[in-house]
Amino acid sequence: MRLGTPLSPSAVRVMLLGAGELAKEVIIALQRLGVEVIAVDRYANAPGMQVAHRSHVVAMTDAAAIRRLVEEERPHLVVPEIEAIATDALAAIEAEGLAEVIPTARAVQLTMNREGIRRLAAETLGLPTSPYAFARSEAELGAAVAAGIGFPCVVKPVMSSSGKGQSVVRGPEDIAAAWSHAMAGGRVQGAEVIVEGFIDFDYEITLLTVRAIGASGEIETVLCPPIGHVQKNGDYVQSWQPQAMSDKALERASDVARRITGALGGRGIFGVELFVKGDEVWFSEVSPRPHDTGLVTLATQRQSEFELHARAILGLPVSVEARSPGASAVIYGGVEAKGIAFENVADALAVPETDLRLFGKPESYVKRRMGVAVATGRDVAEALDRATRAAGLVRPVAPGD
Ligand SMILES: Nc1ncnc2c1ncn2[C@@H]1O[C@H](COP(=O)(O)OP(=O)(O)O)[C@@H](O)[C@H]1O
Ligand SMILES: [Mg+2]
Repeated sequence: MRLGTPLSPSAVRVMLLGAGELAKEVIIALQRLGVEVIAVDRYANAPGMQVAHRSHVVAMTDAAAIRRLVEEERPHLVVPEIEAIATDALAAIEAEGLAEVIPTARAVQLTMNREGIRRLAAETLGLPTSPYAFARSEAELGAAVAAGIGFPCVVKPVMSSSGKGQSVVRGPEDIAAAWSHAMAGGRVQGAEVIVEGFIDFDYEITLLTVRAIGASGEIETVLCPPIGHVQKNGDYVQSWQPQAMSDKALERASDVARRITGALGGRGIFGVELFVKGDEVWFSEVSPRPHDTGLVTLATQRQSEFELHARAILGLPVSVEARSPGASAVIYGGVEAKGIAFENVADALAVPETDLRLFGKPESYVKRRMGVAVATGRDVAEALDRATRAAGLVRPVAPGD
């Protein structure tokens, strides 16, 4: 791999589709290697745009617009950062050799739809998952639950992320509400839902799995230590690394992660989500990109998940070496306002071994993730205490307050 000079004919050009906080960190890692970066998102001044060479505002579900941008910018690599993308355009761009899609157009397509990835995992690969069925109407949903999924179960639109449109169904009386909640929360109209048996797990993890060119010159798969996390209303609030696991559970989880990412192919990092109970492991879902719970790796690993992704996509070697136990805690907007300010940053940063990322999002919502605190410690408990304390000290305020 030859790296060039940005803004010159020798430049290696990378286009990020999605320019949120995760893309911002990937872009910073690429910038450090002298890569020319183009950030794309549906709103102006998105976090990643603020650190890219150029940016464009387009609807990423607009296939013609994506196509036009790729023809105009001629990136070598197209790197999706979000799920809702015109995947047909990506498939055509890849097939015509216009640019390389990370990890592959097929992986992006399969993982944006819960049906595609679930059938690949459970039916093609035979990986352990919750029992599941798909339904296209309230009646089909009721029938599927009665026919074997049982209660409690979880209903999700097949096209959705961040817990949108998801609900837990505890008895027949909840089915109608779960159906309408899913219809209101899905990304596309007239859609389908997946209903999954509820897994009463002890804990859930993200296994960051990297496919990168190794010493052999071939693509090799390496796994970061397991990340534990807490989810509330579809969003992660805290994560830590490493999550303590039995040897058997870690071995099973690693095997699942290797098999699902092997089936998706390409180069880059994947966030494999798994549920664990004792020694038992269930595959939940996978995203072919850095994972939000992996923000903790900014503190815990020699190469964060963002640096790992940048290196892997460029064909460079990676190291998943751990630096220290650590944790992350999310900072929410808490206010609905544009151009907010953060108070008490000095107090937060006075917490030992603690660092902050303030994403620079132009507009805050009460539940929007606006920043994160990351910390290290002698163990996960100490790091978690530090990260939560620091996040709690930062106070977002509306301008004029
Ligand atoms: N079958 C299930 N059993 C128990 N908990 C679940 C199940 N499915 C989802 N959850 C919980 O809901 C969270 C979000 O579900 P997930 O499928 O990861 O949706 P999203 O794509 O929105 O992240 C999971 O991290 C987990 O905490
Ligand atoms: Mg998830």
